[in-house]
Amino acid sequence: MLEISKRTLINTILVPLLILAYIKLYALTNLLAKLQYSLPLRYNNECSEDDIFTITTQIQEIKSWSNNEGLAANWHHSHRQLFTDKVYVINLPHRKDRRRYMNDLFNTLEVDYELVQAVPANSIPSKIPGLSTTANNSTAAMTLPELACLHSHISVLQDIQSKNHSLAAIFEDDVDLDYRIKAWVHKALASIPKKIKWDLLFLGNFHSRAGDYDPTNHTFPELRPAVPIQGTHAYVVNGHKSAQKLLGFLYKAEASLDLELDYLNTYGDITALTLFPPKAIQVRGPENLSDIYPDNHLKPDHYDLGNSSTKNLMDRIKRCYIKFP
Ligand SMILES: *[C@@H]1O[C@H](CO)[C@@H](O)[C@H](O)[C@H]1NC(C)=O
Ligand SMILES: *[C@@H]1O[C@H](CO)[C@@H](O)[C@H](O)[C@H]1NC(C)=O
Ligand SMILES: *[C@@H]1O[C@H](CO)[C@@H](O)[C@H](O)[C@H]1NC(C)=O
Ligand SMILES: *[C@@H]1O[C@H](CO)[C@@H](O)[C@H](O)[C@H]1NC(C)=O
Ligand SMILES: *[C@@H]1O[C@H](CO)[C@@H](O)[C@H](O)[C@H]1NC(C)=O
Ligand SMILES: *[C@@H]1O[C@H](CO)[C@@H](O)[C@H](O)[C@H]1NC(C)=O
Repeated sequence: MLEISKRTLINTILVPLLILAYIKLYALTNLLAKLQYSLPLRYNNECSEDDIFTITTQIQEIKSWSNNEGLAANWHHSHRQLFTDKVYVINLPHRKDRRRYMNDLFNTLEVDYELVQAVPANSIPSKIPGLSTTANNSTAAMTLPELACLHSHISVLQDIQSKNHSLAAIFEDDVDLDYRIKAWVHKALASIPKKIKWDLLFLGNFHSRAGDYDPTNHTFPELRPAVPIQGTHAYVVNGHKSAQKLLGFLYKAEASLDLELDYLNTYGDITALTLFPPKAIQVRGPENLSDIYPDNHLKPDHYDLGNSSTKNLMDRIKRCYIKFP
């Protein structure tokens, strides 16, 4: 008698209750997911369940990196600045579209940055402080847009030096990043062996052959020597000492920034590392021409970011939310 009533109890009350609880929990999870941004979702079919799932999980991951005080404590640097003292974004005044894009990107990734006005190629100052090549005597080895680009990076390096920063990250405004870029930077910085006196850590180079070289630290195989240095769209400078050292060489530069850096790195004047496969790529296409190489319609990189902030996250957010957060 007791046996039967126990089974009846389970079948008639407990099981339906469990099913109901499961359904409620599922609905609640979904609701929470949708409220994540507390901004209205688009009421159309463009936004799929997969979009919502991807947005919420990735945003949660980014937030957990942003809220992890323990990680930054070891560094005396802020995780909101990519474990550096400072994040710079170089942007040409007339590229409002890219300024907006970088703002969306770094707001999404929870990274604070300082905007630096790039030097337009058509108004390079006649004499750049320190630099020996001028718009007057720039040779075929360095076009005016390349000289302008060099000037912009030099002015950031000068800022790093004068402000005595101990680590700084520099981005150009046409970059797409792996959405876990904080994790990558943190891991890379923590993995550089103490005996390596490094100057630059690239978050990605294009046409990189770094994969042919041994990892710099086998426990973090994505960290490799930067060979060759191509593309200065995303890199970390090892503080004011490296900035000063780089400036000493770059003031005498007669070729483009990445050619110069690659030359210095090849001959051991500086030490550059990179993440491979790249975690930062340049955004290029027929509609996104380079300001420096406007004739180059080709995508300069054959790598795709598996977890692109733009394609995997921001494009979905734009599809799903009426207002971009
Ligand atoms: C550049 O050229 C102009 C005209 O030839 C000259 O007046 C100017 O002094 C030059 N500037 C430098 C930095 O050499
Ligand atoms: C360019 O001209 C400046 C003087 O204005 C000179 O100091 C420098 O060496 C020249 N650079 C090259 C590459 O010829
Ligand atoms: C620069 O920073 C270092 C620590 O990173 C400090 O020891 C040094 O005194 C600072 N120098 C100046 C000029 O602020
Ligand atoms: C290699 O990287 C790990 C973290 O990824 C770090 O704990 C270790 O100290 C590094 N090895 C060397 C030799 O620095
Ligand atoms: C790239 O081009 C597309 C289409 O023209 C545009 O919507 C997007 O904003 C561009 N991205 C950047 C980073 O310039
Ligand atoms: C993308 O991210 C997920 C989860 O963080 C990871 O498991 C996967 O390996 C990543 N894919 C690529 C291509 O990096």
